[in-house]
Amino acid sequence: MKNLNRRNFIKKTSVASAGISAVTILPSAVWGAKVAPSDQVNVAIIGCRNKGFGILKNHLDFEETNCVAMCDVDRNVLEEKATEVRNTYGDSPKLYGDFREMLNQTDIDVVIIGTPDHWHCLNTVYSLQAGKDVYVEKPMANTIEECNIMTRAANYYNRVVQVGQQQRSNQIFIDVMKLIKSGKIGALRKVNIWANFNYGLGADPAMDSQVPEGVDYNMWLGPAPKRPFNQNHFHGSWRHFWNYGGGMFSDWGVHLIDMGLWAKDQVKAPAKVMTFATNNSSFNKKRDTFDTQTAIFPTKDYVINYEMVAGVQEGPYDSMYGVSFIGDYGTIKANRNRYRLIPEWDSKNEKHWAESLEVEGGKDSHSEHVRNFIDCVKSRKTPACPPEVGRVAAIHVHAANIAARIGEPCLNWDDKNNRFTNSETANSYIVPSYRAPWSLPKID
Ligand SMILES: NC(=O)c1ccc[n+]([C@@H]2O[C@H](COP(=O)([O-])OP(=O)(O)OC[C@H]3O[C@@H](n4cnc5c(N)ncnc54)[C@H](O)[C@@H]3O)[C@@H](O)[C@H]2O)c1
Repeated sequence: MKNLNRRNFIKKTSVASAGISAVTILPSAVWGAKVAPSDQVNVAIIGCRNKGFGILKNHLDFEETNCVAMCDVDRNVLEEKATEVRNTYGDSPKLYGDFREMLNQTDIDVVIIGTPDHWHCLNTVYSLQAGKDVYVEKPMANTIEECNIMTRAANYYNRVVQVGQQQRSNQIFIDVMKLIKSGKIGALRKVNIWANFNYGLGADPAMDSQVPEGVDYNMWLGPAPKRPFNQNHFHGSWRHFWNYGGGMFSDWGVHLIDMGLWAKDQVKAPAKVMTFATNNSSFNKKRDTFDTQTAIFPTKDYVINYEMVAGVQEGPYDSMYGVSFIGDYGTIKANRNRYRLIPEWDSKNEKHWAESLEVEGGKDSHSEHVRNFIDCVKSRKTPACPPEVGRVAAIHVHAANIAARIGEPCLNWDDKNNRFTNSETANSYIVPSYRAPWSLPKID
């Protein structure tokens, strides 16, 4: 971990130094002595408001990182967050409104991408082309083809890309995977996944309005279709509109379905998706996406079942979200903070197949996921959630969302040929249409 005392020391010293000026020389000397320049990692960020900024702070909490550049199309967000970086970490990043200009800055090693999902592909590919490593938030992108392009680009440019599915670095889930793979619950047959949160209903209705002062709205829209400004399509609530996100279904789906895939070491897009989705909440909120959805991803010997209900804060096993892994010998129920193993009864031997287990105390895993990324940036090893893993999780949610949007209860996916085999309508959703001057990046 970064020497936070050192950070505090910088801050406290400069406050104290109003009266004792000689002390101010110390921090940079201490800093230089701690981490050799060759081991330092210079961090930049595109999209600073919420999650991106959290991930930036996770980076800056480590000793060897420096924030050298920040970019946001909302000047208010940019200045507020840059001030926090200066005050808390003592770094003085250069500020940008256009990420393409930022990427010309040669001292940047890694770029954090915390923009809405419709921007992830362009932000990532441009960063990779500029020779940077990338931490891109999940869902990896807003369409299947963008995920394909990003995966190809990461390999083509030979850069480290970590997708922000931080449960891959969560100790509770790491331990659960070990238990499952050790055979503790026997053959894994099914995984039940659920996510129920209020925020999934979207924001209150609002009239279209003037673009707020300091916002480059055209750049916020980027490749998405032009539309008048509306607060409830903007910061935070964009995720409930298809042009920018996939709703709570994809928000949580990529995290949780990923656990079901990891348990089987399955880095494969689904061959089949069955789904039903509807909007049946009585609350008047604005969204394109669904508030109630169930999707099943069946294979011959394993079923992934994901259920989402937006607008409620309750779920099975007293948890708003979770994963229940069902094997012949027992079930493991897990979320980010705890897991419980409930063994089945072995009637032949008159005992349980395994010991009951209850483990609490998992912690937020963003920091571990970022640590893993920084380590891989240095070692050039594959990170915990590489693009291949992010892509497969994203295809699960996008395929189900496409099926739901076109009212097709079952779609068959041919991953090799990048197409649905039973619906031409579904195929029209694979590749997004970008608004000029933006175009889908081409990778050889
Ligand atoms: N890993 C997790 O658990 C987790 C949790 C929440 C959000 N996320 C993901 O993080 C991403 C951001 O979500 P959020 O809630 O922080 O959104 P947000 O709307 O709060 O923030 C997005 C920021 O990006 C900026 N932006 C938009 N277009 C830009 C561009 N072209 N260049 C520069 N800045 C631009 C916006 O002005 C805003 O400041 C999403 O992909 C979301 O799914 C991940």
